[in-house]
Amino acid sequence: MMDAGRHPRIELMAYSEVEDVSGYVGNFRVRVRKKARYVDDKECTACGDCVKVCPIVKPDEFQMGLSTRRAIYIPFPQAVPSAYIVNIHECLGDNPIACGKCIERCDKKCIDFDMQDEIVELEVGAVIVSTGMDTYDPTELDEYGYTRYENVITSIEFERLISAGGPTEGHFIRLTDRQTPERIGFVQCVGSRSQVRGNPYCSNICCMNTVKDSLLLKDHYPDIDITVFYMDIRAFGKGFEDLYMRSKEMGVKYIRGLPGEVKEDPETTSLRLFVENTTTGRLEQHEVDMLVLSIGALPSQDGRVKDLLSLSRTADGFFMEAHPKLKPVDTPTRGVYIAGCAESPKDVKDSVTQASAAAARAGILLSSPRIRVEAITAVVDEDLCKKCGLCADVCPYGAIVWAKKQPARVLTAACAGCGTCAAECRFEAIIMRHFTDQQIYAMIDSILEEDPQDKVVAFACNWCSYAGADTAGTGRMAYPPNARLIRTMCSGRVAPDFAWYAFRKGAPVVLVSGCHLVDCHYINANRNTVRRVDALWEGLEKYGVRPERLQLEWCSAAEGQRWAKIITEVEKLRAAVTPDEVEQTRQTLQETKVPIKSKVGRLKEPAPATMCCMRCGNQWDVTYDPAADEERMCAACRSNSVRVLVG
Ligand code: FES
Repeated sequence: MMDAGRHPRIELMAYSEVEDVSGYVGNFRVRVRKKARYVDDKECTACGDCVKVCPIVKPDEFQMGLSTRRAIYIPFPQAVPSAYIVNIHECLGDNPIACGKCIERCDKKCIDFDMQDEIVELEVGAVIVSTGMDTYDPTELDEYGYTRYENVITSIEFERLISAGGPTEGHFIRLTDRQTPERIGFVQCVGSRSQVRGNPYCSNICCMNTVKDSLLLKDHYPDIDITVFYMDIRAFGKGFEDLYMRSKEMGVKYIRGLPGEVKEDPETTSLRLFVENTTTGRLEQHEVDMLVLSIGALPSQDGRVKDLLSLSRTADGFFMEAHPKLKPVDTPTRGVYIAGCAESPKDVKDSVTQASAAAARAGILLSSPRIRVEAITAVVDEDLCKKCGLCADVCPYGAIVWAKKQPARVLTAACAGCGTCAAECRFEAIIMRHFTDQQIYAMIDSILEEDPQDKVVAFACNWCSYAGADTAGTGRMAYPPNARLIRTMCSGRVAPDFAWYAFRKGAPVVLVSGCHLVDCHYINANRNTVRRVDALWEGLEKYGVRPERLQLEWCSAAEGQRWAKIITEVEKLRAAVTPDEVEQTRQTLQETKVPIKSKVGRLKEPAPATMCCMRCGNQWDVTYDPAADEERMCAACRSNSVRVLVG
């Protein structure tokens, strides 16, 4: 941090918050609020005189509340810049005017209560997100007695207790009697690897952190008795197994089993642990003077970064990389990279490695004279655009700029080409370059040209389902040959009209498939797929078509077997659809006002619109005004499930 602070080409903006990010790769505009410190950090020499006179005492957050600080303080010992700040809310409390003792005491006159927050606008080409992680609060695990017993502490509190810069200056003591404990227990996986309470994932760092702590303690207090309660020790990584063995050799006891109950002796405040030792199969009791809970890692709970940069999260809540193997530090938003525990829990070494990779990736981007954009991107036909802004709402990248009464505009550099905007546009106003609706309709036509009764029209997203089909093929897995694949970049590209069109052309079954919900390669574009297929099912039911004839399935690139199973199941469905049923569907859809907006060829003139209630099927003609129709309600059933059809 010191090096970064001194580097001539790095500007550190401490005590600042990013408020807004706009723009796209190579051209981000970032608005940062530099909060008022009320202390001139250039002049402050950190002499500490102001602290001595400050009358406000508060728990020190950095020391986990194990010591106190004043309202004017340095956030933590190695803070850069090493200058004081005033927490103005604590300083003033209920008083309208500060006491001013610190101002009187400061010889350098660097305290200024008139300082204001400053808004700084930055223009940057790339952004690296390294917002770290939070830690699990073990209070809900009642059996361990955290907060009930003073000598049960978390691993983070333990770190502060043994740190030279901590509240006890590195002297390891119990909180109840301030004596060095003679027996200490560590409980692993607190809040990790549990399907019931806490998190299902492994927090990666806790095992080696405990091994390190045990070695440290043994180094300073050779006679201390240490017992580690664990599920299994994960000592992967360079030199870690050696450390684990060394800790064992130094007398640290490892017991496979987690305490089911902890009780405190009210007189001695020592703790009794009831554990099933799963190695011996016996129920054991252990007594310790202090118990340390190795708490798990949580994704940072601050949700703003995700929204500001259009990032997506994996199921466990950490930021998702663009590709786990090929682009591990890129995010789906071009020009934005991730490093450290923002991506997943990891130790210092891995964080530094990943940060170096992210910096290198950003360096490559910034040093190239040109940025290549995707070939498949969206373009708006301004003549057809009805200025409704629906495309901008569904764009996962914020690549569509829209203002009321203005036609939408696509920022080509920010567009990743998922096509969900084109699927959402009800007016044919968005065209996907090299992947137009007409091309997709032509594919449906050619699939159903001969023996449509025997075919399954299957839409497969490029990154997962199509790759899953490839895996099934290369693995020579046997499955029925009836499915005809139409590759789309994302399942979000599948417009409802494609399915209507296929049914009208005689498809017995239509399959829409994509990546698993949190795995969409276009952030969360496949959430729109779910919404559209839901609406389609309702629509099919309304027109007397069995909704099972439209299937929605998720399949990843590695799931060849799953793909084979999906197609086998879909084929069974297809075989159950009779020619009469197909013919009836064809006729119904041809006779009714089913929203096949595109047919083959584009609408030249905007047609008058028809409103259709997706709940009860009621239809009525309107002159469509997007601004006025936002809150349109069905007059028949009073539902808001209203959709605009182009008549
Ligand atoms: Fe596969 Fe979006 S990329 S569903």
